[in-house]
Amino acid sequence: MGQKKLIKFAAIKQYENVLENPQGMPGKWNSFFEKLATGPYPISLDDLAVIKNNATINHPAIKPLTLELACGRGEYTVGLARLFPAQNYIGLDIKGNRIWKGASIANKEGLQNVAFVRTQIDQITNYFDTNEVAEIWITFPDPQLRLSKAKKRLTHPKFLRLYQQFLQQGGIVHLKTDSPNLYQFTMAVIELYALTIITATDNLYETAFMQSAQWNEKLAIKTYYEGLNIASSNRIHYIQFKIDKDLPIAKDDILKEMIAAFEVTETHDAKRERTLPHKE
Ligand SMILES: C[S@@+](CC[C@H](N)C(=O)[O-])C[C@H]1O[C@@H](n2cnc3c(N)ncnc32)[C@H](O)[C@@H]1O
Repeated sequence: MGQKKLIKFAAIKQYENVLENPQGMPGKWNSFFEKLATGPYPISLDDLAVIKNNATINHPAIKPLTLELACGRGEYTVGLARLFPAQNYIGLDIKGNRIWKGASIANKEGLQNVAFVRTQIDQITNYFDTNEVAEIWITFPDPQLRLSKAKKRLTHPKFLRLYQQFLQQGGIVHLKTDSPNLYQFTMAVIELYALTIITATDNLYETAFMQSAQWNEKLAIKTYYEGLNIASSNRIHYIQFKIDKDLPIAKDDILKEMIAAFEVTETHDAKRERTLPHKE
């Protein structure tokens, strides 16, 4: 492993705003952010107060919590935290050297409403309690184009069922992607399971959309992968939806058949998979 990576890994171990596979955190995030703002440090996770279940909603002392999944350097986590200091933000990613970037910026700017969790997203239900999360952003996740990898797509019902376990009723999921295939796949999931779409566009920065009532300042935050244009689509796709229905497992086979019909073109996402900078 490179020297720079080792330095970053060592740094995040010392950061109060980075937790690696933290144990016993469901229900404790509001208390964690209070301690992050005031100390004493190091924060003892065992001593944090647990706020159970529905108590997290509409209580003046409880700040809404938003997650960014596959956050990489955490541009959305940090960007949203700057815009909305009265809300809390957590970025999740498995790569510590990427998280280091966002966590370092948050520390430098004194953002007390930002934290990062280094973990596998498959483990996500270990970290949050029922109703603890108000919103989820999924920013430029790997599109996992091969059909055999469809279950790894972060908008696959397999993952949506996990998010449902801690997302508040009516909680919103945002997907931002340059992958037409992931966009199409996610739209198919939404349709098949009859979820509610709030906004969907296959061209986020089109003038008409930017001038519409659906545009807002959150959508202008740009991530590192957004800048890479790996899918060569030259279009940013965006979906905002609610996981507001049951997701019967029996429908997963229908989904499998539906997505088998999707065409993957060399000029778009296939190129992305070949050129992803895995070793960063
Ligand atoms: C294409 S990058 C996007 C990063 C960032 N959101 C951006 O737009 O620049 C995808 C990220 O997902 C993370 N990732 C992929 N699968 C993951 C998993 N199962 N658990 C946690 N992180 C994962 C990778 O480490 C990587 O940082």
